[in-house]
Amino acid sequence: MIKQLKILRKRWFNKNTFALEFYLPGIKPLPGQFFQVRVNEALEPFLNRPISIASYFRNKLFLIIKVVGKGTKMLSEKKEGEFLTLLGPFGNGLKPKRKKSLILAGGIGVAPLYFLAQSLYKNKVNFTFLYGAKTQDEIILKWNLMRMANESIFITEHGKNRETVVSAVKHIPIDDYEIAYTCGPKEMLIELQKLNLPISIYAFCEDFLGCGCGLCLGCAIMYKGKYKRICEDGPVFQLKEINFEV
Ligand SMILES: Cc1cc2nc3c(=O)[nH]c(=O)nc-3n(C[C@H](O)[C@H](O)[C@H](O)COP(=O)(O)OP(=O)(O)OC[C@H]3O[C@@H](n4cnc5c(N)ncnc54)[C@H](O)[C@@H]3O)c2cc1C
Ligand code: FES
Repeated sequence: MIKQLKILRKRWFNKNTFALEFYLPGIKPLPGQFFQVRVNEALEPFLNRPISIASYFRNKLFLIIKVVGKGTKMLSEKKEGEFLTLLGPFGNGLKPKRKKSLILAGGIGVAPLYFLAQSLYKNKVNFTFLYGAKTQDEIILKWNLMRMANESIFITEHGKNRETVVSAVKHIPIDDYEIAYTCGPKEMLIELQKLNLPISIYAFCEDFLGCGCGLCLGCAIMYKGKYKRICEDGPVFQLKEINFEV
């Protein structure tokens, strides 16, 4: 589906992260699904940018975007009332399970996990949200997460009581949980995998994409011994089955 959608609302969380709100009726998205956002109707930059669904509520779609380069900077300059072309939703997404859940969010990886948290909350599933960022300022949606989660833990790499998601998860009684979900920088996923935690962890992979629709194989990862496309076969995979070395 290709849609030209008007930006209803734009909100900055901090100096480099913002949310866009659109009216988009008639979809039933799952956590992990994403849109390919056209940055510019001209050819530069050529590739659309994949952005996860951060919330879908009463026909309103919310995307949360961190400015990291040219495309996201150009998106950050769009104003309320302007139109953006969105393709999607893409990806398989994940039907949240009715199991006591541990959510591990790193940085902007919080975006799809926020959608997951909303879904768990709506379905009255008990969950803990552990969320790490570089600084306090980069922690977004804190109050919403605190309201929904049975327990929420916020940590930062800088400042007092420095922790990372990988170091903090070691203090969590994993046996109390039935399932875990994670999204964050690739390095964080690799370190988490090395911990070999005794729980099934679903990873939302946000690595580089090309076409975003299954054609270019630019997003291939080795999963269960076979190449899989993040855009078509994922982006949600079982963490322990990903081979990050290939
Ligand atoms: C399925 C999926 C969902 C995503 N959801 C979100 C989301 O909800 N919110 C959000 O802010 N971002 C999300 N991303 C990441 C986002 O797509 C990239 O940050 C964006 O495409 C970068 O474009 P750019 O032109 O600004 O950066 P570029 O100019 O292309 O690159 C700038 C710098 O960022 C690095 N970079 C670019 N893309 C990525 C990436 N995917 N992973 C790690 N480093 C990267 C480059 O190496 C370079 O150093 C998602 C990615 C995927 C694959
Ligand atoms: S990005 Fe082209 S196949 Fe996935």
